[in-house]
Amino acid sequence: MFIVLGVTGGIAAYKSVMLARAFVEAGHDVHVVPTEDALRFVGTPTWEAISRNPVTTSVHDDVPEVRHVALGQRADLVVVAPATANTLARMTAGLADDLLGTTLLATRAPVLVAPAMHTEMWEHPSTVHNIAVLRDRGVHVIGPESGRLTGTDSGPGRMTEPDGIAQAAFALLGDAPQHTAGTTDPGPATTPLPAADAGETRAILDLDGISMLVSAGGTREPIDPVRFIGNRSSGRQGVAIALAAADRGADVTLFAANIDESILAAADAHPGIVIVHVSSAADLEHEISVRADGADVIVMTAAVSDYRVDGTSDQKIRKEDHPDEAPTLHLVQNPDILKGLATDRWPGQTIIGFAAETAESTEELLERGRRKRARKGVDLLAVNEVGWSSGFEQEQNTLHLIDAHDDVLRTVTGTKRQAAEGLLDTILRVRAR
Ligand code: C5P
Repeated sequence: MFIVLGVTGGIAAYKSVMLARAFVEAGHDVHVVPTEDALRFVGTPTWEAISRNPVTTSVHDDVPEVRHVALGQRADLVVVAPATANTLARMTAGLADDLLGTTLLATRAPVLVAPAMHTEMWEHPSTVHNIAVLRDRGVHVIGPESGRLTGTDSGPGRMTEPDGIAQAAFALLGDAPQHTAGTTDPGPATTPLPAADAGETRAILDLDGISMLVSAGGTREPIDPVRFIGNRSSGRQGVAIALAAADRGADVTLFAANIDESILAAADAHPGIVIVHVSSAADLEHEISVRADGADVIVMTAAVSDYRVDGTSDQKIRKEDHPDEAPTLHLVQNPDILKGLATDRWPGQTIIGFAAETAESTEELLERGRRKRARKGVDLLAVNEVGWSSGFEQEQNTLHLIDAHDDVLRTVTGTKRQAAEGLLDTILRVRAR
């Protein structure tokens, strides 16, 4: 296969030498397209020796061959690793002022980017926005991981190791249509793939064969036939996780607790997702427990009521029946479904809980998260801060992912889909241990 490896100006460029080698050793025809800045980190002779092909950065070389579009047209896959914040911004804007820029515009092949930058740059609203736009266009994003960065600092921003990028690239190639030079009409160079199509045909199938249960929404505990105790969970984050997992090849069962039809619509239409509707905590416990044994991964996103009404009334409770004082509701505790699943899990099964918390500071939030993770006994706890105006019913979210060693493996900020992708990457990391 014809792979274009774009390399941009970050220190992680040195790791992409190993990536180029992995592609060559797997028998692919590798064409490295560095930016000018990338060549300050690793020079042309290295790229030419490893890729066994000539290397240029300029759109003015090989003009008779129309090289500035030929590479993109011939590519079966374009990988950009490392992808700096600057390159992501250039891709989002469609800039074509060097060979990598023209190649990216001219290609209709899948594009995989491996961002690498400092945490502040990765979390900057510009980068968050650019990544969201690129994902929407069908660009695949792998990483970044959390870990040691160039200086003494560490955090999210470290490029995924070459092995991980190579695996993702091979998964995409397995799925990609073959382009043979000269025999296929690549069509107009700038025609974007429709987003839905891109989602279905371009996903990295790194969850293929995984059976996943996801609960989402909020339970309703009946008081009488017309009233209930509920909560503000919209189900958006859980639905985003189900969709992202199914796009990545998982067989997903989504337990939908009182989720609006408009939020559920995309999951309903997805062939990889089965929806089971539930209402109360008892319904959820029953439906999930009968399927738990067959699942590799269980993600409990649903906001489950800790209490239910003892002795639900079959008749509507009426004011005239309580003329002197307000009626008292007696509550009893619901079973902790998540804790039960974690206790009963089989080796190799991965259980993930969510914790929506209010806190005065991030430290307090993480401390609460660590304590909750230990109490529940789960492999990973996703903690998100909520308040009167944050967390619920919104498109953006921040998740701190705490593992069984009390480490914050990753903090993902962005749209709920981005948070979902970050969570799935981290679940794979935990399962690989
Ligand atoms: O204790 P808390 O409600 O904050 O825990 C939240 C996590 O536990 C979520 O993953 C939620 O789905 C799960 N949970 C549960 N059963 C309960 C309460 C919460 O599974 N009764």
